Amino acid sequence: MIILSVESTCDETAVALVRDGREVLTDQIFSQADLHAVYGGVVPELASRSHVEVIYQLADRAIAVAGIQKSEIDAVAVSYAPGLIGAVLVGVNFAKSVAAALGVPLIPVHHIRGHMAANYLAYPELEPPFVCLAISGGNSLIVDVRDYTQMYVMGATRDDAAGECFDKVARVLGLGYPGGKPLDALSRGGDDSKYHFPVAKVEGHPYDMSFSGLKTAAINLIHHAEQTGETLDLPSLCASFAKGVSDSLVPRAIAAVRERGYRQLVAAGGVAANSRIRADLERAAAAAGVQLFVPPLRLCGDNGAMVGAQAYYEYRAGHTAGSDLNAYASMELGALNEGQP
Ligand code: KG4
Repeated sequence: MIILSVESTCDETAVALVRDGREVLTDQIFSQADLHAVYGGVVPELASRSHVEVIYQLADRAIAVAGIQKSEIDAVAVSYAPGLIGAVLVGVNFAKSVAAALGVPLIPVHHIRGHMAANYLAYPELEPPFVCLAISGGNSLIVDVRDYTQMYVMGATRDDAAGECFDKVARVLGLGYPGGKPLDALSRGGDDSKYHFPVAKVEGHPYDMSFSGLKTAAINLIHHAEQTGETLDLPSLCASFAKGVSDSLVPRAIAAVRERGYRQLVAAGGVAANSRIRADLERAAAAAGVQLFVPPLRLCGDNGAMVGAQAYYEYRAGHTAGSDLNAYASMELGALNEGQP
């Protein structure tokens, strides 16, 4: 089954062709990062307009590069939530039109489910059940993935997402947008014990996380240094900050796998590209005797192939939509199991 899949929830426009949920025929991605960099963050209106400009060309290019006929496309999938609503609407309307024109089913995919499914493309042997640590620019979740489409959120951030936290601190450091990657690069060789950042606990909710205190502590430290003329050791500041984020995520993920009695831990999302988090996950999983799956860097950020991978399993579970499919700015990861489209 060949699925044409569309992603436009934030600042990447992507169209992919994926066979049977596991084989990428092509994944065409257009990043808007340069467009938003000058503003220090994504400007929703500009994001929507840029998606409109490139989405048709990306689809044409995907079909040409994959070397298939349009008649070989069996279904069209789209990330329909969560995301910037104007941006998501572009992808949803485009996907609806293509599905109608080709006369094939339309498959709605939760964006975070897509991030998780990126691992199915990289690891043919991976099958549920597993615990997934899903960490992106807008979400931080610990999820019990019982089956390809049956998921239960064990814990979530109570405030900022891990990626948002990296981006805000990077912005104050003048590292540009998106700042997670340059902050990661700057942290190499730094002393992670030089600055202390708090790891928050949420009483009675062992898998819930909070990053706003960590973010504020880092920003206050930087502002204080500016005001007093103190010179900060930037690599050590970045290394200590990354340690704080990692310490909030990794032990909880390992505890969640243990509690569920699973043997597999999966990471997903843009922040899964972070070198400190990857290294800590590897160490902790090995110590716990758990098999770890972390997407290759190219599949951590937003892409179309991950949507096509998850769409295959949503389709097999009977999750298709009609021409009344809408876009949603927010949506629970388990919503598809509760009767929504
Ligand atoms: O998954 P993603 O591409 O978009 C969303 O679905 O949100 O994640 C983007 C986030 C941004 O916050 C970006 O700064 C962060 O992932 N990121 C990183 C790294 N690479 C990307 N954060 C920390 N370290 C990295 N190496």
